[in-house]
Amino acid sequence: MAKNLFIAFEGIDGSGKSTQINLLKKNFENAGHNVYTTFEPTDKPIGKLIRDIFNHRSNADQRTIAALFAADRLEHILDKENGIIKMLKEGFTVITDRFYLSSYAYHGVHVPVDWVIQCNMLSAELIRPDLNIFIDIDPELGMKRLKKGRNSLEMFETLENQKKVRDKYFEIMEKLKFQEKIFVTDGNRPVELIAEDIWKVVENILDRI
Ligand code: ADP
Ligand code: TYD
Repeated sequence: MAKNLFIAFEGIDGSGKSTQINLLKKNFENAGHNVYTTFEPTDKPIGKLIRDIFNHRSNADQRTIAALFAADRLEHILDKENGIIKMLKEGFTVITDRFYLSSYAYHGVHVPVDWVIQCNMLSAELIRPDLNIFIDIDPELGMKRLKKGRNSLEMFETLENQKKVRDKYFEIMEKLKFQEKIFVTDGNRPVELIAEDIWKVVENILDRI
């Protein structure tokens, strides 16, 4: 029986994840799949706490923030009403805007990356994405796109940090290349070309299951 896929989108801020998730969702739906899209940080209690810290309404050490994301992710996976496992069991294709590779890249800049991977071990054991899609974009272009969209920037959204996060993504993708299925696409191109490339890779996986 055909398996419904779990796909995670990754990339620095402003890389075009939301845009591509909407297009991939449409492609899946046109092919007859039911799709559930979701995101991290979640809109559940721990995700809300994280957003308060990012918006400077609350304060926490970088190690605490990394641990909060790991906890938020467990809720994201295990929530009995709309957790990732539940939605997959119900037959939905699940597409998430960020998953544990985001943690490795964003927190690996501030705390030892192996500790972040350890923190997320339970999540990785519970469920690994069938495909991680990394949209690679020039950090300067990402910052330009972000600045167009809103007035204030969040905690990690400085050019210097975005460059470090991008480098960290490449470091961890190399480190995890035998554990994780990762497709890297050039996000500096027009929206439609990126979407076509992503759909080709996904179709290829669908043909093989
Ligand atoms: P993310 O979810 O990764 O933060 P978004 O999809 O919200 O990124 O895109 C950030 C901004 O850049 C939006 O205004 C969006 O319309 C624009 N954008 C996304 N992809 C592209 C692209 N390939 N070319 C030009 N602009 C883009
Ligand atoms: P948000 O504005 O919700 O999303 P995006 O910019 O991706 O559209 O912000 C999410 C921020 O959280 C983003 O800067 C990346 C960061 N983040 C972490 O630091 N660790 C994590 O584990 C995740 C999932 C996200």
